[in-house]
Amino acid sequence: MKLWQKNTGSKKEVESFTIGRDPEFDLSLAPFDVLGSMAHAEMLSMIGLLTKEENQILQKGLRDIYYEIERGEFQIEEGVEDVHSQVEFLLTERFGDVGKKLHSGRSRNDQVLVDLKLYYRAAIRELVNDSSELFDLLLKLAEKHKDDLMPGYTHTQLAMPSSFGLWFGSIAEGLSEDLGLLKAAFDLSNKNPLGSAAGYGSSFPLNRTMTTELLGFADLHHNVINAQNSRGKTERTLAFAMAGLAGTLNRMAADVCVFMNQHFAFVSFPDELTTGSSIMPHKKNPDVFELIRAKTNQIQAIPNTVNLLLTNTTTGYHRDLQLLKEEIFPGIASLKSCLEMSTFMLKSIRIRENILLDPFYKHLFSVEVVNELVLKGIPFRDAYKKVGLDIEKGDFTPDQTNLNHTHEGSIGNLNLKEIQEKMNLAIRQFRFEEIDKAIMGLLT
Ligand code: ARG
Repeated sequence: MKLWQKNTGSKKEVESFTIGRDPEFDLSLAPFDVLGSMAHAEMLSMIGLLTKEENQILQKGLRDIYYEIERGEFQIEEGVEDVHSQVEFLLTERFGDVGKKLHSGRSRNDQVLVDLKLYYRAAIRELVNDSSELFDLLLKLAEKHKDDLMPGYTHTQLAMPSSFGLWFGSIAEGLSEDLGLLKAAFDLSNKNPLGSAAGYGSSFPLNRTMTTELLGFADLHHNVINAQNSRGKTERTLAFAMAGLAGTLNRMAADVCVFMNQHFAFVSFPDELTTGSSIMPHKKNPDVFELIRAKTNQIQAIPNTVNLLLTNTTTGYHRDLQLLKEEIFPGIASLKSCLEMSTFMLKSIRIRENILLDPFYKHLFSVEVVNELVLKGIPFRDAYKKVGLDIEKGDFTPDQTNLNHTHEGSIGNLNLKEIQEKMNLAIRQFRFEEIDKAIMGLLT
């Protein structure tokens, strides 16, 4: 029996095709579906569509289901279409008619939207926490290795002196900027769609401001059509934000794979963090970083799929939107695991010291020597030419210990404090504590 079933049901084939993988993904929505229903019931009671007693029954029933979900005792039963149906069936089974009253003034279209927004809000928070943990580690590593020089590359060719401090710091600052994109996705997720119903509102005098406050949303989508159309837009923005973080991790992982290569041997990891080969006894492979590289590439493909899913969908709800879950939900899980594994691995990274003392790297110092001549009064173009000719003649022997970089963000002045402040500010803007306050209020 379906929620919408009157007398005739759908053919089995149609049913299983349309339900698809929803029962699997909807499990993640369960706690949020309950919270959304709690706010909706409170509001229905306030406008007189539920009596005080009915609301109390529903609040207690929903709270029980919430804790059943937390304890892992909730499941979407065989033949039940989705999480929304399962929660309503449970309430009706336990409390009779009052369970059937809960859906007044609401459609599954705004119900799934509110679930998704609450779920994304929580998922973004976890991504922010994971990013922040990785960030803290990177800043520590940057400070520890601020004097450990390494080659800098352009075109994958030796370019100029860099340092591990500069490299770690670059990933850290990159993460702090990625949180800006994530904040845009958070803002779209933090708007209440509830009360838009099927997409055209309701003739009941719903109080949408009330449910906005109860659920701790910062705002509501005022226009009910726009509320519905935010499905897809929210996912697209989130997909781009996830791709941003994934891009930062991808570059780090690709670097590590190269730095671990024996020709470079810039970094290494304890044996137990590498993997062996079934045939070559000497192997210590960087599989973890290869998989981070691959998974973050998969994540960077998600915006493309999301865009294609949304192409030519007109105003209002379409079943197409259901498939967004199949892209976004596993993407979130994968990104979380990449962030967490990056932190796990980098805790044990070992770097090689004194790399740049090797004469092999002397050409990295060509610009240093040019600049010294400039400081002695020789015009840059002449100094450049002299050093170039010396190099060609094999007459270039720079002092590979002499470096003097002082400007902001350079190897001699990493600006780690400024980068830390940037991250602190980025995190503060999410104001997670306000959400906690609202959700605690609903549950108690
Ligand atoms: N599983 C559906 C989805 O994710 C829930 C909404 C169904 N609404 C509908 N009108 N068929 O979109």
